[in-house]
Amino acid sequence: MTDLRSDTVTKPTKDMQAAMFNAEVGDDVFKEDPTVNALEQKVAELFGKEDALFTASGVMANQIAIKAHTQPGDEVICDKQAHIYNFEGGGIGFNSGASVRRLDGQNGRFTAQQVQQNINDPSNVHFPLTRLVAAENTCNKGGGSLWDFEELKRIGKVCEENGLAYHLDGARLFNALVETKENAKDYGHLFDSISICLSKGLGAPVGSVLTGSQAFINKTRRIRKVMGGAMRQAGYLAAAGIYALDHHIEQLKNDHKKARHLGDVLEKQHYVEEVLPVQSNIVIFRLNEKYTEKTFLEKLAAHDIKGVPFGPQTIRFVTHLDFTDKMLENTVEVLEKL
Ligand SMILES: Cc1ncc(COP(=O)(O)O)c(C=O)c1O
Repeated sequence: MTDLRSDTVTKPTKDMQAAMFNAEVGDDVFKEDPTVNALEQKVAELFGKEDALFTASGVMANQIAIKAHTQPGDEVICDKQAHIYNFEGGGIGFNSGASVRRLDGQNGRFTAQQVQQNINDPSNVHFPLTRLVAAENTCNKGGGSLWDFEELKRIGKVCEENGLAYHLDGARLFNALVETKENAKDYGHLFDSISICLSKGLGAPVGSVLTGSQAFINKTRRIRKVMGGAMRQAGYLAAAGIYALDHHIEQLKNDHKKARHLGDVLEKQHYVEEVLPVQSNIVIFRLNEKYTEKTFLEKLAAHDIKGVPFGPQTIRFVTHLDFTDKMLENTVEVLEKL
């Protein structure tokens, strides 16, 4: 089976499993799990932040961050394609009681000018108080799109001038970092908080990390507890995260190469209307009338290949650690035959 539904489908490698089974653990709610402590410290240092928090998932990391940055009634600015708005089960309303101002960006990326134009006048009591701007790099729904760091810096300046917090959903930030010249510290310097996922391209089975200032992480530790996300001997999971950060970042480039190859092949097929620019490990394409997303996926399934429907006439493929060269070859053959 070739599973291109998501980069979350990978299974831990043998070496990662060994790191997990050999982890030294303790009760993390007492902050006594040395492996969780080591992972949190590693991520904080990587981004040049004061502290970090291990969470069960990317959604949990983002939602905790939003809760920590806002009060009920506040407003969050993000792109119309943002994961925090589209794919987190209405979590911003559910957890934080905040409203959302969605910007009409380009493949998930908006501009500083758009942010400026959408900040409510805080002296006018009719309007929700704008409190937080959230960006997503790479942007999932935007086809794994990469941000221009200069634009992110301009947005950071607008946030600073208006007293707004600035969060990055960096679930796939390492996919961006291997393709661009910036490093983790550049991002840590710019954003108040950053969430990263260990269980996507990095190949760990579970977990995300949220990083920020000491005061911010202290606050998020409390919120994680309230959400029921404080785990005990979580070091077995954190060990996979440490292993992933040490061994699986550079290989993301291979995933990108495979995704670009799939994109190039799809561009040439008679049943494809449009392929979004492939900049990392996500390939989003629109089908013409030859297939619906359902009939297309059925055809693929008949060849033991899985993708996901991603809107009307739209399919998403995501490449990952467990998508081998052989699988790529076979997938290309199937795509060319359909
Ligand atoms: C951009 C982005 N942020 C956050 C998440 C949430 O991660 P999880 O599914 O681990 O909660 C995802 C998951 O696909 C994502 O694509």
